[in-house]
Amino acid sequence: MTWAEKALDALAAGPPTPLIELPVRAPGVRLLLKDESAHPTGSLRHRHARALFRRAVLDGLVTEGGTVVEATGGNAATAQAWFARRLGLPYVVVMPGRRSEERARAVEALGGECRFVTPPLAIYDAARRVEGHFLDQFGRAAEHDLAEELFAQVRPDWVVTGAHTGATSATLGRWVREHGLSCRVAVADPEHSAYFPGWTLDAPDYSTGMPSRVEGVGRPRVEPGFRPDLVDLVIPVPDSASVAAARRVRAVTGLPVGPSTGTALWAALELAGRMAARGETGTIVSLVGDAHDRHLAGCHDPRWAAAKGLDPGPHEARLLALT
Ligand SMILES: Cc1ncc(COP(=O)(O)O)c(C=O)c1O
Repeated sequence: MTWAEKALDALAAGPPTPLIELPVRAPGVRLLLKDESAHPTGSLRHRHARALFRRAVLDGLVTEGGTVVEATGGNAATAQAWFARRLGLPYVVVMPGRRSEERARAVEALGGECRFVTPPLAIYDAARRVEGHFLDQFGRAAEHDLAEELFAQVRPDWVVTGAHTGATSATLGRWVREHGLSCRVAVADPEHSAYFPGWTLDAPDYSTGMPSRVEGVGRPRVEPGFRPDLVDLVIPVPDSASVAAARRVRAVTGLPVGPSTGTALWAALELAGRMAARGETGTIVSLVGDAHDRHLAGCHDPRWAAAKGLDPGPHEARLLALT
């Protein structure tokens, strides 16, 4: 067996992540959470990392002993460090800002190396200068295996996801179209993000120039991996509502989800309410993007929200009325 064959074996899909029913007060409407926090590294980015490594091995860009490089400050680094270790490859991630022990810990525990760079936008050029293969999750937003797994579990009428690289919504939208399914794909988009205005105006070069405050979803510009033609609806979600909805998910499921899960859930509940009002019945799947104890000191902590100028209070009553 060659090294590449062994690597592809090690990159085979894991067990399917579970679906959790979230009871909703919308007659005839079922809401299921696809719990992507169940991956070994606790987030949907586990699938992205597997897809990026598979692509790189198949293309011969990653070979035995070769260093793998990425530029990111988020969950992608932990997931990629996990796969790099599994394949026995050195891993270097360039992160924005000054060294943060909290952000470095998970990567370093997996044997990866973190380099911190300012200003934040310099991470991409800095990563390109590191000797090794730059995975480039935005430039090569590899579609992953979520759609195949999800549609084998359930036949929903809507799937609601966030968008960051664009890979997840493209994966879902392409699968639905290629398999002639009647399911529609909705993207939930936080404040400041370019996806909602870009999709509405049919402007793939749209840029807000403002970073998203919701970790893991939304971007200041429409990324090349986002495929507006594969998306049926983009729903803008207030950041305070994302926080309130993330707290509601934790209250019901016990999972310390991040705010991006709340963004998707808020949009899913918007759809559920509209379906019920029209007398429609059906199933909605909403993604749980991640769950980590670190979010307890983040969106689940009232001081964190106040420091960011976010007031989830007004959205809580709506959530209680619907869930
Ligand atoms: C709720 C949610 N949806 C989607 C995504 C991923 O989006 P993309 O595949 O566009 O990078 C994330 C983060 O990884 C997320 O937390």
